[in-house]
Amino acid sequence: MAFRKGGIQIKSADQLAVMRQAGLVVAKTLKAMAEATAPGVTTADLDSIARDCLSTMGATSSFLGYHGYPAVLCASVNSEVVHGIPGPRALKEGDLISLDFGAIVDGWHGDAALTVLVGEVSADIAALSKATEASLWAGLAQARVGNHLTDISHAVEQSTLASAAADGRAYGIVADYGGHGIGSAMHMDPHILNYGKPGRGLVLKAGMALAIEPMLTLGEPEVMVLEDDWTVVTEDSSIACHWEHTVAITDDGPWVLTALDDVRL
Ligand code: MF3
Ligand code: CO
Repeated sequence: MAFRKGGIQIKSADQLAVMRQAGLVVAKTLKAMAEATAPGVTTADLDSIARDCLSTMGATSSFLGYHGYPAVLCASVNSEVVHGIPGPRALKEGDLISLDFGAIVDGWHGDAALTVLVGEVSADIAALSKATEASLWAGLAQARVGNHLTDISHAVEQSTLASAAADGRAYGIVADYGGHGIGSAMHMDPHILNYGKPGRGLVLKAGMALAIEPMLTLGEPEVMVLEDDWTVVTEDSSIACHWEHTVAITDDGPWVLTALDDVRL
């Protein structure tokens, strides 16, 4: 069993190898859903593709039944930020959809999200997705032995500010949700903010695994939860975007467990 240091689960090399298997299931499933995303496709169609992928690959869902969650996918469209429940809604040209998916292999979890642009989208929406993905990779690059937890947070924020300056606009950084530790459960300590001063919080050690997940908006950062008790939307109805990877901290640097290829930064 993994042991804990300061409350944070430390994984052995063998356990990280199993987490990589879970991460590959996540990467392949996200790719299959992204390729199927098109005008007219419903979010329930994408959920059923994900269910097929899980059973084909012999994995189970991190999400289904989690606090009663009814699907294997979170599909969040336009002003939905995260935790959108798949259903009969058909996608249309110009939409943006975040696909968030988690899988379990032998008790170990992988969790990742990507944003897909449906057909031709506005320049603003395309820039938002690029900025969010860039901020994720800036955070992942800081998942290094000896760094402090908030070095990740700070890097996400700095990247967002740099993209905003380059794009000649502002992006809202959602503050009510953030990243998390991951391993033998999907959500573990620590919580990871997507902004803040560097050099604070726990010191990162080899064997830790984190899910880093920036959420940016074209408007304000404030969000609220809809009546279904799940769907998180922007308060100002601005478009929101979400990208996520699970990363392992190793002596050889960050290992992106949910990338399709073997990515070590
Ligand atoms: N994958 C989400 C996260 O990134 C959590 C999904 S909530 C669930 O933390 F209920 F769908 F599982
Ligand atoms: Co997550």
